[in-house]
Amino acid sequence: MTIRILGDPVLREKSERATKFDENLHTFIKNLTEIMYRDDGVGLAAPQVGILKRVFVFDDGEGSKAIINPEIIETSAEMTEIEEGCLSIPDVYANVIRPKWVRMVYQDENGEGHEKIFDNYSGRIVQHESDHLNGILFIDRISNAKKILLKPKLNAIKRKSAT
Ligand code: CO
Repeated sequence: MTIRILGDPVLREKSERATKFDENLHTFIKNLTEIMYRDDGVGLAAPQVGILKRVFVFDDGEGSKAIINPEIIETSAEMTEIEEGCLSIPDVYANVIRPKWVRMVYQDENGEGHEKIFDNYSGRIVQHESDHLNGILFIDRISNAKKILLKPKLNAIKRKSAT
């Protein structure tokens, strides 16, 4: 599995719900986690390796977790501005404003359901990764001024991705 880079159309697709919590899923989660650590990421979503399933892994500093079929059911009114990056958009960082916390329902790798509030850093990661499952990238959520500034760099990444 290789990381898909900006310009690859798979990053813009909407992923399908995962329905089988079997050995294949467990192997996939293991591989996804390995790639995340290898590339020094704090999160990695299935579409970033070309698999259109609603699955992501992350590590907020307390060990890796796998999140399956996440739904954000509540967001805080309070917003925070935090710098984000993405393994699919190498060497690009920008401030993004998002809710400070989210309440999310999801399944674990065994299909068991959970409901949890993700706050601060973990809240930020799960929002970024959930976006990937809907074909949304963090550069879609930055200010227009910053978008204009980053455009040459993003275009260069897209050109490289196409070759
Ligand atoms: Co990302």
